[in-house]
Amino acid sequence: MAKQYWIVTYGCQMNVHESEKIAGILRARGYEQGAREEDADIIVFNTCCIRENAENHAYGNIGALKKLKKSRPGLLIAVGGCMTQQEGAAQKLRKKFPFVDIVFGTHNLEDLGALLDRKEGSKKAVVDVWGKEGEIREEDFSFRSSYPNGWVNIMYGCNNFCTYCIVPYVRGRERSRDPEHVIAEVNGLLDRGYKEITLLGQNVNSYGNDRGGEFTFPQLLHKICERDGKYRIRFMTSNPKDFGEELVRAIAEHEQICNLVHLPVQAGSDRVLRLMNRKYTASEYLKKVELLRKFVPDCQVTSDIMVGFPTETEEDFQATLALVKEAKFCTAFTFVYSPRSGTKAAEMEGQISEEVKKERIMRLVELVNTQTREQSVLYRGKTIEILCEDYDAKKGLYLGRDEYGRMGYFKSDRDRIGEFVKMRVSETSGVSLAGEAFE
Ligand code: 5AD
Ligand code: SF4
Repeated sequence: MAKQYWIVTYGCQMNVHESEKIAGILRARGYEQGAREEDADIIVFNTCCIRENAENHAYGNIGALKKLKKSRPGLLIAVGGCMTQQEGAAQKLRKKFPFVDIVFGTHNLEDLGALLDRKEGSKKAVVDVWGKEGEIREEDFSFRSSYPNGWVNIMYGCNNFCTYCIVPYVRGRERSRDPEHVIAEVNGLLDRGYKEITLLGQNVNSYGNDRGGEFTFPQLLHKICERDGKYRIRFMTSNPKDFGEELVRAIAEHEQICNLVHLPVQAGSDRVLRLMNRKYTASEYLKKVELLRKFVPDCQVTSDIMVGFPTETEEDFQATLALVKEAKFCTAFTFVYSPRSGTKAAEMEGQISEEVKKERIMRLVELVNTQTREQSVLYRGKTIEILCEDYDAKKGLYLGRDEYGRMGYFKSDRDRIGEFVKMRVSETSGVSLAGEAFE
């Protein structure tokens, strides 16, 4: 029987795709995906450190493996991802969990195979975390598990240094992939029957800047959309400061580009936005949303919003609530600010108490959910098109998303995964929709 792997992923879509790359490396070495963590021959943690709870979660789960490792000394445990890139993190991990065999970083994920070789026959742990980003490796060796959606990195790293954010420290500076390689990867996926491509980058709007700025993100979108046929293009994340008319026109022009933009605002108070180093004001943000809706009237906007940034007052928080209403987000990811060591905000005076943060996040979530529900109700009786992506065995229903990211459930006698399905919405609950599919 082949050796089995088990990958534990924390964090964002970027990490989900990186776990697909890790799976590709392991499969190339003869491993197969296991059905249970307890039976795996190798367990890889792909960590995230953007917020404290993601990090605590990973530390907790790694620690919980001590027993398993003791009972099965042959088990390999590897830890990679953003968390290991933090200063002193690799040492901390080794000290806390001496049973970890391999520690690697975000810049040398592609070398996991070589690290496995180094570990073979050696009792000592292999720790290899690069302080600096290396060359981009363009070849696609992912073992993908998100059909009919294919994730495609267009760039890595971030230059923005928002004062709360650890990403520039653990992911390095912006590096854009060669457009030819991106387009080839997208076309390769569509040739293989993938129906939706999500282009990934911390700030897709600055795509190409590090390559002389001759080939911009909107140009990349135009080039990708030259391909005929029915498919969807999504992208994330757009930093509002670089979001402009050229991109809006591209979204309006190409039917394949979904009319849904993820545009993280973070806060609604100009004072807080300045402290965050976001480089836009609330009204500038709202003007961008307006511009988008002028060219693409049905376009939906989602966002990331944070509460409890240092010095945030009730009045600042009220400004955030007001902005959520005015921007009419269809949904949003909401976060409690957590200080990240090494960032400017972590050193700021006026850190907010956990109690106040908790109370604000509850009010924010309530508002976002109400808005989402109100918009869901408008779906009733409408016919929508969803791309079927999975089957929920518990519910006995197929599911997929419409262009605007709404999840729709429906019954079918045959497998519809990977098909565009027209569905009449009969029920709405919170974010999701249910209805009958047309055959
Ligand atoms: N605390 C809480 N949320 C954070 N984010 C980034 N850094 C922090 C932090 N220190 C959120 C931002 C970002 C999203 C990916 O995570 O909202 O857009
Ligand atoms: Fe972090 Fe700001 Fe870069 Fe986003 S744009 S990854 S929030 S530093």
